[in-house]
Amino acid sequence: MQYWLETFGCQMNEHDSELIAGFLEEMGCWLAVSPNNADIIIINTCCVRNTAENKVYGLLGRLRRLKTENPQLIIGVCGCMTQQQGVAEKIKRRFPYVDIILGTHNLQRLPVLLRELFDTGEPIVEVWAKEKEINELSPIKRKDGIKVWVTIMYGCSNYCTYCIVPYVRGRERSRRPEEIIAEVKRLGQEGCKEVTLLGQNVNSYGKGLDFDFADLLTALNKIEGIERIRYLTSHPRDFSNRLIKVIAVSQKVCEHFHLPVQSGSNHVLHLMNRGYSREEYLRLTEKIRKSIPGACITTDIMVGFPGETDDDFKDTLDLVQQVRFDSAYTFIYNKRTGTPAADMPDQVPEAVKKERIETLIAIQNDISLEKNKAVEGQVHEVLVEGESKSDPAFLCGRNRCNKMVIFPSDKNIMGSMQMIKITNGQLTHLKGILLCSGK
Ligand code: SAH
Ligand code: SF4
Ligand code: F3S
Repeated sequence: MQYWLETFGCQMNEHDSELIAGFLEEMGCWLAVSPNNADIIIINTCCVRNTAENKVYGLLGRLRRLKTENPQLIIGVCGCMTQQQGVAEKIKRRFPYVDIILGTHNLQRLPVLLRELFDTGEPIVEVWAKEKEINELSPIKRKDGIKVWVTIMYGCSNYCTYCIVPYVRGRERSRRPEEIIAEVKRLGQEGCKEVTLLGQNVNSYGKGLDFDFADLLTALNKIEGIERIRYLTSHPRDFSNRLIKVIAVSQKVCEHFHLPVQSGSNHVLHLMNRGYSREEYLRLTEKIRKSIPGACITTDIMVGFPGETDDDFKDTLDLVQQVRFDSAYTFIYNKRTGTPAADMPDQVPEAVKKERIETLIAIQNDISLEKNKAVEGQVHEVLVEGESKSDPAFLCGRNRCNKMVIFPSDKNIMGSMQMIKITNGQLTHLKGILLCSGK
């Protein structure tokens, strides 16, 4: 049987899809060339904002035609969306041709449920309300062998008041360090060069384990074969001085800091339950820049959180101008049912939110461009990923700061580290020339 996977949301979800692919291939299925050829289609959903949810509903609607043409087609829906109250029932009602619905906590049940479906032909809905202990026996089928994701922790216990993640991913649980180290050693032996450690708040890794995130980075930094270590996502509240020191001396740990600030206003940060002030955030970014030369800092910012006044928004703009982020993901606050912020007073009108995000993006774009222009003439180490999407005569890859670099090359140097001289900084990427091709 051939399968097709559609994934929405964050890297954690992308990585879950690698697990789903592993399950399916273990059952003897293989990847189809397109959804039209598939016997099984699985949609791995996200519900962090309604834009992600709407895409899933749109896709489910379009699958009706495929199911009519091929009634044997199996359609499955899993991921964060199904974990929300009432959503599995809603999907069943609106899209009765969906065969399997399962949640994030019982993803490992997919093979058993599929077999049950083959046997009985009866649609299945199984969503566990609570998470279980971590299951280490998972057959991950990675998309890429050079750049890989490794989950170090599951769930989130931070309860930022706007965020649905703790409700759909369960409480924070850390994998045991031995398991992570063994996995990364294996990956290093298999030729992997870059590892990204995944968790909703990696800085709080290891609670109750007597082994924290700094210890983990120190251990992973020694693993042969691995050349770069990245991690996502950091919480500014938990970024300790010790961690900065460890990163500064761990050569493989990249000097890219993704530190979601969300807002520059103390009033809004408090309402969001973020656990740090604007001043603490500014001090943290200064410390990082002082301790780690060439550090890049990126962020997530939200506008239009309930109660955000014009002055609060000005504080955000002011923080953006002070920190001068290399880049920022910007979001319009979106009500998530079941989160405290959804019921907060003073919800901001959509038109105001739109105006604010446009102002913010314009300011950040100027800064991003300036930052990228400032590195013209520098030589960056780039892990070559493949052909540039816009021009096949160019190859692309990322520098240590995770910026996309494109450069002309007719050589097959995919998967290798190269030194690239940056010649032109643009808004979203850097252009350069290959200095010497080692491979
Ligand atoms: N765990 C990470 C990322 C979580 S989701 C962290 O703590 O930073 C990624 C981003 O989505 C968040 O940083 C936030 O900016 C945005 N986001 C989360 N909930 C949102 C909501 N209800 N409306 C708009 N943006 C949201
Ligand atoms: Fe959501 Fe906050 Fe947890 Fe990030 S830290 S996943 S924003 S609750
Ligand atoms: Fe979305 Fe779930 Fe990730 S809600 S952002 S896929 S943790």
